[in-house]
Amino acid sequence: MLPEKPELTQADFDFVRSLVKQHSSISLDDTKGYLVSSRLLPLARSGGFESVAKLITRLRSRPHGTIHALVLEAVATTETSFFRDFHPYEILRDQVLPDLIRQRRKTTRMLNIWCGACSSGQEPYSVAMVLRQVIPDIDTWTIQLLASDFSGAMVERARKGVFKQLEVNRGLPAHLLVRYFEQHGASWWVKDEVKRMVTFFQQNLDREWTSVPQVDLLFLRNVLIYFDVETRRRILRKVRRHLRPDGFLIMGAAETTLSLDDSFKRVQFGRAAFYQPGEGSGP
Ligand SMILES: C[S@@+](CC[C@H](N)C(=O)[O-])C[C@H]1O[C@@H](n2cnc3c(N)ncnc32)[C@H](O)[C@@H]1O
Repeated sequence: MLPEKPELTQADFDFVRSLVKQHSSISLDDTKGYLVSSRLLPLARSGGFESVAKLITRLRSRPHGTIHALVLEAVATTETSFFRDFHPYEILRDQVLPDLIRQRRKTTRMLNIWCGACSSGQEPYSVAMVLRQVIPDIDTWTIQLLASDFSGAMVERARKGVFKQLEVNRGLPAHLLVRYFEQHGASWWVKDEVKRMVTFFQQNLDREWTSVPQVDLLFLRNVLIYFDVETRRRILRKVRRHLRPDGFLIMGAAETTLSLDDSFKRVQFGRAAFYQPGEGSGP
């Protein structure tokens, strides 16, 4: 039996830290040793390793492969929920989408939306449900709703669209649960009309964005906080190139572009703020 609180040596922690920085761009400061060891413990157990240290020894001795990918996924924080923080979705439903739809209805009848760190899928499915609510003739529109994450395991989970009771209890209004999900035993399956709206793919935000078109809405929520300042700036520069002039960047409640990239304009909507490409020069 492995100890409940495995200690990591500084050398092992540094090894994992540099692996994580190199492959997922997540920055782990010196206080994260315990977090890393506790997240690697289940992986060490299920892989039959005697200890987390032995798992790390294996990582060191092999070229980058499956076990490394599992470690990267285990270390990342994937916390999420349907309609997380509620207000951004309210703004989306009542202000931003109705405006965008009015504009686009006169022209292309197209919308491109991307959730760039979608975790297990609650975020893009929340967006899909809002779209169905606010666009009654949605089937006559061309809507590209993209969702990606660096973690292959998360993308696979999200694509399945299967959620536990505990997950649908967090943030999902009862009328939307009844309308857009089917219960199968202890789990809830996203109905096809919502599921088929989302295209999932694996994408590290800090690599080239090859499959991403210009978008009207870009959700980068609760992800930049895990990166260092240089990485955040690099990613925001790419956001500028991929966001339409009247598009919006939607970040997490504790996140902002301020002091990172002054070319974004903060647009306050009641209790939440979205960001638009503005006049500033950026870093
Ligand atoms: C805390 S979750 C946020 C999920 C969702 N956006 C939300 O706000 O509820 C952060 C997600 O970012 C993903 N992530 C971490 N580093 C990434 C990177 N370099 N590129 C893409 N996704 C990354 C993680 O796998 C995780 O699913």
